[in-house]
Amino acid sequence: MSRRRTLPVMAVVAASGLILAGCSSSTSSGSTSSGSSSPSMSSSSASMPQVDASAFTADFSVMTQLKDLAAQGKGMVGVLLPDTTTSTRYVQYDAPYLKKAFETAGLSADQFKIDNANGSASTMQTQAEADINAGASVLLVDPLDPGSGAAIESKAKAAGVAVIDYDRLVTGGPKDRYYVSFDNVKVGTLIGQGFVQCVSDWNVSKPQVLVMDGDPTDNNATLFAQGYNGVLKPYFDNGTYTKVGEPAGTWDPATAATTFQQQLTAHPEINAVVTPNDDNANAVISILKGNGVKPKTFPTTGQDASLVGLQNILTGYQCGTVYKPIYLEAQAAAALALYLRAGDTPPSTLVNATTKDTTLNADVPSVYTTPIWVTTANMKDTVVKDGAVTTAKLCAGDVASACTAAGIG
Ligand code: GAL
Repeated sequence: MSRRRTLPVMAVVAASGLILAGCSSSTSSGSTSSGSSSPSMSSSSASMPQVDASAFTADFSVMTQLKDLAAQGKGMVGVLLPDTTTSTRYVQYDAPYLKKAFETAGLSADQFKIDNANGSASTMQTQAEADINAGASVLLVDPLDPGSGAAIESKAKAAGVAVIDYDRLVTGGPKDRYYVSFDNVKVGTLIGQGFVQCVSDWNVSKPQVLVMDGDPTDNNATLFAQGYNGVLKPYFDNGTYTKVGEPAGTWDPATAATTFQQQLTAHPEINAVVTPNDDNANAVISILKGNGVKPKTFPTTGQDASLVGLQNILTGYQCGTVYKPIYLEAQAAAALALYLRAGDTPPSTLVNATTKDTTLNADVPSVYTTPIWVTTANMKDTVVKDGAVTTAKLCAGDVASACTAAGIG
């Protein structure tokens, strides 16, 4: 993956003084705008707004600048999300933030549709076909696996529908497509760097590290591993750390628990785990607690800033987590979809990266948003400030004193 050079075009930033639309609850139904506003806007490319990938904010103000673009587009945008179990993000954040992004740009309720396949590739296929039959002009696909994602995308392309890989790259997808995600190698790098810092902060001498990857059918898991393994390699190579193993990866916490238990039985010296998932980390931590392991002695890592992950950080069982503000990714995806829906080439200020599709051996033009490593030190100013978690939930029960110590609540 590489950053693309961005051109010094007049970036539309989250300018102050703009009227914010759709900032209230994300549970309301679609706005009534029919897409027929702004008759003054006639030529699409001459007036095309140059949205910058780094300009999205929590108040969705950039989306209000895309109303004319939205009014110029035709057809429906279909969004296909994968499941409700590997992460709470899809229900809690992706669906409502995508809805809010489309609505803020002025799409009406019948101009976009957001489905979740509940873990079933055939359900996603059916949802995709329904979207295509309903006149979709753009499809956003967050695949369950690359094969089923590519099948959906080639069908969409054959029907003249533009496709965007959402969050997970559909390796082997059609050549002519886009990708929107966080910089996933960076996600892994943050995990690796956070781990190294934590090993030092917690004075873990001679770390015996078990590396527990995510599901290998998710291309993100490969990229996360690239990131943290890149950081850890010199420590393994020079003998500061010992790599005990890197068993088959999973996004299923129950499988992660079994794997960890087996590894710990075979290698009782394990005293640290690197993993890119809060729930998998929690499976490990439950076993550690059962074994009487004390706080701040056994580093673990995670991703997604889940409630349990954040609590494990506060109580000293997890070093940190990667927080991905999904409102950034959702707006980036919605903005890109609006350009394609209007038949425009998206600006290079938005399409700021490329991602290697190793199956096609081709670079996919990409939009990257930026992930954040969250520890006790910055939890208040990141996830709490963003309202990604309420202090009432975060600081419940025996986490209360840790919250007080961290200045939260
Ligand atoms: C990834 C996604 C993560 C998380 C993970 C499963 O593809 O980027 O946010 O959902 O799958 O935990």
